[in-house]
Amino acid sequence: MEDIRPRRSALYIPGSNTRAQEKAKGLPVDTIIFDLEDSVFDEVKPKAREQVVETIRAGGYGHREIVMRVNAARTEFFEDDMTAAVKAKPNAVLLSKVESTAEIFAAERHLRGRPETQGIALWAMVETARGLQDIAEIAASVRTPEGHRLKGLLLGTNDIIRETAVKGGGDRTPVLPWLSMAVLAARTEKLFILDGVYNDFADVKGFEAECAQGRALGMDGKTIIHPSQIEAANRLYAPSKAEVDEAREIIAAFAKPENAQKGVIAIQGRMVERLHAKIATRTLKLHETIVARS
Ligand code: COA
Ligand code: MG
Repeated sequence: MEDIRPRRSALYIPGSNTRAQEKAKGLPVDTIIFDLEDSVFDEVKPKAREQVVETIRAGGYGHREIVMRVNAARTEFFEDDMTAAVKAKPNAVLLSKVESTAEIFAAERHLRGRPETQGIALWAMVETARGLQDIAEIAASVRTPEGHRLKGLLLGTNDIIRETAVKGGGDRTPVLPWLSMAVLAARTEKLFILDGVYNDFADVKGFEAECAQGRALGMDGKTIIHPSQIEAANRLYAPSKAEVDEAREIIAAFAKPENAQKGVIAIQGRMVERLHAKIATRTLKLHETIVARS
């Protein structure tokens, strides 16, 4: 069945910041990403790893989806991070700086064959030039037995900008082709995709504009770094009232007996096809889940 869990806001929290982790229990985010990678200083990683396992095991996060971001497969931290993930049993393990299917398979080797890890998904961050080049192949690993756990892609725009030397900020013109390519790769394999972070957490207007842009590009949600970004991400990535009303109208129209055999109909001077009814059903499901949460 298609995964339509809302992921409007996915909040990163440094694995070493227990105060923020505690605070997140009361924040209206859809997803929490406990980070063991770049937000944690190397010397602090072992301690942070232990703390994150403890925090996730202790629970108290309600409906929020719990994700553990581990260090890249080619780092000295990966094996211990994966062992910790098996203990913590988050909803998903987020692999950082993924550049090949081999890294997805390396994570799978830690998870497979254990009944207790059955429900753990894998998410992949694409945030390097190499990862972007091979993103279609990385996404396609979901069709292999070793890659079946892959559910979504996350973009690491800060790393992409740094490595490629394009200019960041503004309306993101230099990275737009890559963002679109990533959306295409995700959709091809029916994965979800979350946009990169917006660093300037005091700039609400700029953040709103980037959420609207990400949504127009086809993203499912926004990764965020600060509580000040939750409200806008939740609002801008939720189906709007107009979208919900239209979805209801389309479903009602196709449900009429006179339209039962029709592939295409007209609603108020516009052509509406069966495929729109499918999209409408998804919009309503998403909307209902969001309403139930608030
Ligand atoms: N998750 C949960 N709570 C957070 C938070 C986060 N990511 N970032 C800040 N907060 C909390 C703070 O703990 C503080 O709460 P308190 O007053 O009860 O202690 C409150 O929000 C206000 O924080 P503020 O003082 O404005 O920010 P800061 O200077 O403490 O932290 C950052 C700023 C950027 C260092 C911090 O937001 C952060 O670490 N974000 C995540 C970074 C990350 O994980 N990056 C890796 C992926 S890109
Ligand atoms: Mg990164």
